[in-house]
Amino acid sequence: MKHKYLYINTIGCQMNVYDTRRIIAGLQAIGYHHTPDMEQADLIIVNTCSIREKAEQKAFSFLGRLASFKKKKPGLIVGVGGCVAQQEGKAILKRVPFVDIVFGTHAVGRLPARISEMEKHHQQIVDIEFADTIEPIRPSITDMNPPVSGFVTIMRGCDNFCTYCIVPYVRGREISRKPEEILNEIKAYADSGMREITLLGQNVNSYGKKEGLCSFSELLEKVNRIDGISRIRFTTSHPKDLSDELIQCFAALDKLCSHIHLPVQSGSNTILKKMNRRYTRERYLEKIEKLRAACPDIAITSDMIVGFPGETDSDFEDTLDLMKTVAFDGLFAFSYSDRPHAPAVHFTEKVSETDKKARLQKLLDLQETYTRAGNTSLVGKIESVLVEGPGKKQPATDSSVDVDENQWTGRTSTNRIVNFIWKENTLHGTPLTPGEIILIKINRALSHSLWGEPVHPGISSQNIKGEHYAA
Ligand code: SAH
Ligand code: SF4
Ligand code: F3S
Repeated sequence: MKHKYLYINTIGCQMNVYDTRRIIAGLQAIGYHHTPDMEQADLIIVNTCSIREKAEQKAFSFLGRLASFKKKKPGLIVGVGGCVAQQEGKAILKRVPFVDIVFGTHAVGRLPARISEMEKHHQQIVDIEFADTIEPIRPSITDMNPPVSGFVTIMRGCDNFCTYCIVPYVRGREISRKPEEILNEIKAYADSGMREITLLGQNVNSYGKKEGLCSFSELLEKVNRIDGISRIRFTTSHPKDLSDELIQCFAALDKLCSHIHLPVQSGSNTILKKMNRRYTRERYLEKIEKLRAACPDIAITSDMIVGFPGETDSDFEDTLDLMKTVAFDGLFAFSYSDRPHAPAVHFTEKVSETDKKARLQKLLDLQETYTRAGNTSLVGKIESVLVEGPGKKQPATDSSVDVDENQWTGRTSTNRIVNFIWKENTLHGTPLTPGEIILIKINRALSHSLWGEPVHPGISSQNIKGEHYAA
């Protein structure tokens, strides 16, 4: 039988990355091999994101590039999945007539049957029905190389309805997977060599509440007991729901990494209210204090939106002020983008593009100083680093740093990238394999990464948290 090949382009968040692996697994079952070569593909899928207008445009520009492929290979099947597919449905077929199948965020489980149907009767299909259960399809990990770190979606959808956000409309209502299903999936990953797991949900703190399952903290405790897993991360926790119980997990669970992503969005109470975030800056700052009390080394990162409708210079100053108070270790900053369905699209007092751009730049410049300072503060310290694999070959920005084929890369518990040299059978001794946790003395800080030197050759531990060791 002729081999069939699938090429898939993923745009958007980690949940889309996870869904892509589920799509691959489902299509492998009907004979498709995943290929990184678009020319070879019999089926090309784009898994789309709609969070901002730019992300949506990215999907359509990718589809534009496919026109010539489709002409060259008339049997080629083109599929559009994910959040733009859910949002636009059959309008996609009007805009890009050569698309064969549009499948929404709840249609991943139905996709293999739909594609088989399409192979027989070549008719356009739109499947954007919402479902109230999550199909138990385990993602494919066979072509991950090496599978040191991976995502597991523990819940889908969102019930928060922040006024700028499209997610509740394109992912549907919040629903949690059963703990046994999640734990079995993680155990299987651990057996196949995965060492770090990131649990995913739009608001992990409300995990299981609707369904009366265990709490998120209890789920973390269970994951913490899985042999073979050495690091646990999660994203995202909504500040309004960040419980004391979860904060205590950072002190109590040895495998939970010392990092939390806690999106604040704005430092102005007026804007937070208009965004329907349901916390104030004071409440947010209280949570930060509690986190730092429970875990002094914790790295805190956040998301910020500039130019939300009605944001004045003084609101923006409040945002800069909050950044100075917290000194985030990292920040994703976005310029507000109108989204269909989201209530803020109807808010008047839109901020001009020029002002948004200027505010974004100011914010990024300020953050740069904190990111760099956070990195610099680690120089001279010894960090435990999960080895991910050989480093990228591009030279470090500082030309005095050697780059050679013995360059490796990994991450600290606080999620900072560390590059280092490991010379097999020389000074540093034993061969290194991805997935090991080793001790590295940090000797240089760049803006977005660190350089260091392995210490205590041969010493590695699967369970060392993020503590600094005396240098
Ligand atoms: N569930 C997560 C966020 C998911 S979306 C949470 O609540 O924190 C990721 C980020 O995209 C958001 O935190 C927000 O900063 C940004 N974002 C969402 N909608 C946006 C919009 N319309 N314009 C600009 N940024 C947006
Ligand atoms: Fe969007 Fe708010 Fe839900 Fe996050 S919590 S996905 S920002 S609606
Ligand atoms: Fe984008 Fe959908 Fe994720 S809109 S950010 S891919 S949930």
